[in-house]
Amino acid sequence: MKRVTIEKLDNLGRGIAYVDEKICFIPACLPKEVVDIELTSVHKNYLEGKVVNIVKTSEKRIKELCPYFNECGGCSFLNLTYLDSLNIKKEIYEDLLKKNKLAVNLEIVSNINDFNYRNKVSLKIENSLVGYYQSKTNNLVAINECLVANKEINRFIKKIYLLNLTKALVTIRCNYLNELLIVINTKEKCNCDIAKLTKEFKIAGIIFNDKCIYQNNYFYEKVNDLLFKVSYNSFFQINPYITSKLFEYLKQFITKDDVVADLYSGVGTLSIVAAKKARRVYSLEINKNAVLDGLENSRLNKVDNITFFKGNVNQTILNIKEKVNTIIIDPPRSGLDKKTMNSILNIKPQKIIYISCNPQTLIRDLLILKEFYTFDAIKLLDMFSYSYHIESLCVLNLK
Ligand SMILES: C[S@@+](CC[C@H](N)C(=O)[O-])C[C@H]1O[C@@H](n2cnc3c(N)ncnc32)[C@H](O)[C@@H]1O
Repeated sequence: MKRVTIEKLDNLGRGIAYVDEKICFIPACLPKEVVDIELTSVHKNYLEGKVVNIVKTSEKRIKELCPYFNECGGCSFLNLTYLDSLNIKKEIYEDLLKKNKLAVNLEIVSNINDFNYRNKVSLKIENSLVGYYQSKTNNLVAINECLVANKEINRFIKKIYLLNLTKALVTIRCNYLNELLIVINTKEKCNCDIAKLTKEFKIAGIIFNDKCIYQNNYFYEKVNDLLFKVSYNSFFQINPYITSKLFEYLKQFITKDDVVADLYSGVGTLSIVAAKKARRVYSLEINKNAVLDGLENSRLNKVDNITFFKGNVNQTILNIKEKVNTIIIDPPRSGLDKKTMNSILNIKPQKIIYISCNPQTLIRDLLILKEFYTFDAIKLLDMFSYSYHIESLCVLNLK
């Protein structure tokens, strides 16, 4: 056992301390706490540990409300008040910026519902128990509910036995009407009690191993005054309130003569927000169903100035023949690949609106873009309250 002082938190929300001058990462502790730890793994350049005893407790620590805290691999900051969790995320972000010598102001957009905000969860079923895997393991942590999941999803979790599955992966999505879209992947035969499920819940569809076995393989989601068809395997933002704030914010940067490229466009959400104001929008997305949803969503929301390109952004961006003056980027966690970055630097739009779910790749890409672009603020959108994940948005202007 070692006694250490936690200096700060890393970008995965873990405490950082030093053991014999070697960096050690320790989950579920807070800055300035003195803790006794056991080492859980020893690597060449770093150690990992777990708290066995808190010797000096941070004045910010609160009793976590969730019985699965530090077990289920989910929320990292349930041992803080919501306000303190936001402050700590800001500190972690500031640290990353400082390390990379970027001077940028951070503005936080907080969540209106810090609990029950997630409209989608993916759960494991094993031996008929339902839960999440403990971080970095295949050990199931069985749960009765998830504090950050939508209440209707939690009601469903309590009845998940009606799916009659012993081993499966089940994704549950919930829309603005409290309709559920259930996606099941399993090697087992389908034995779902659909009659009972539909009596208890508004089921928009059940998809069993990619085959729709009840109603539809999509549902509709509404954000502000816009309606979106979302197929069972299309991406959609998991936090409706923060998504509505994102739309409102994006709108401010689009003007009527803009020609916009929306890279990584999903079901066309940001494209449609932009298309309501811009002259033309090019919407680039790799997932075929999401592109088809996007086409339907343009019709639903009465916009006829979007051109969709299906395929890898690093190729389809070359299909745009018109001069683009604004690029919206909302990539997966990996950020921009080299080819896409080069294409953007060739186009050199007046404005880039970069939305990211991974501060590290955003900062990596900003360090390249800063040669040609100015930016002075990053908005932290608290899409994933209490988890260490941070959504952020940065507007860049051509020098
Ligand atoms: C973070 S989501 C953003 C979606 C959309 N902007 C939204 O807000 O709903 C990223 C999207 O990029 C798509 N994607 C991932 N890699 C891609 C690539 N190389 N080329 C095009 N699209 C890609 C995914 O299918 C997903 O829809």
